[in-house]
Amino acid sequence: MADQHDGSRVVALVPAAGRGVRLGESMPKAFVPIGGSSMLTLAVDGLIASGVVDHIVIMAPAELIGEAPVLLGIVETTGPVPVSVVSGGAERTDSVRAGIAAALNTPKTVSHFLVHDAARALTPPSLIERVVAELRAGQSAVVPGLPVADTIKTVDAHGDVTGTPDRSVLRAIQTPQGFEAQLLRDAYASGLHATDDAGLVERFGAHVRVIPGDPLAFKITTPLDLHLARTLLAERADAALTTGLPR
Ligand code: CTP
Ligand code: MG
Repeated sequence: MADQHDGSRVVALVPAAGRGVRLGESMPKAFVPIGGSSMLTLAVDGLIASGVVDHIVIMAPAELIGEAPVLLGIVETTGPVPVSVVSGGAERTDSVRAGIAAALNTPKTVSHFLVHDAARALTPPSLIERVVAELRAGQSAVVPGLPVADTIKTVDAHGDVTGTPDRSVLRAIQTPQGFEAQLLRDAYASGLHATDDAGLVERFGAHVRVIPGDPLAFKITTPLDLHLARTLLAERADAALTTGLPR
């Protein structure tokens, strides 16, 4: 763990308080199962497996905070990394703000925050490690991103095209997004608004570095995404059975 060798302490904030309207399941999205575990549990397992996270703060829907069996299922699998669960808010930014407050409300100093969507349940631990390595190398804000496959167009309210940005300079941004703790804290305290954490930090005037993302860090948003995630995990389980390797 980070705080055992260089004095840094990495806290992962996991927004999991969304409703999952586009997925259309009967429960909040983070609690939807994939291969026997919830998306949230898989995301937390990935953070722990990275070996670079010292504390995990989950922001869950308020009515599920008391759901001991579900939440204990998460806590019991965590081993040496402590996991806290707090209520999220109406918007994702409200949830992240609640996570920052909870993380800072402990006696231990936080050097860096990772913000990592529960909905990116299959994110490889190696991507989490790479984000933290960049932070340790001195970057103050680091986000994974992938080249955009489709041509992107800007349109007006009628659907008429107003422009076609050069695709080669575009990146689709994933999580975990990593930040110096004080920077994220100050950006959230500034009263500025943005749709993602890196966007907020940019508006606050800080430099953000994009590193190569990973296709497996895709966000499970629609039923098609859920189908893909379930298929990938089932294949992984089959391969583990065949080879005798642990799942
Ligand atoms: N999230 C959150 N608090 C909110 C909204 C979203 O913690 N008020 C979390 C979601 O749980 C998810 C992540 O932010 O892990 C990314 O959001 P998104 O994929 O949009 O999830 P939902 O908001 O649940 O989905 P939808 O927009 O389809 O309702
Ligand atoms: Mg949403």
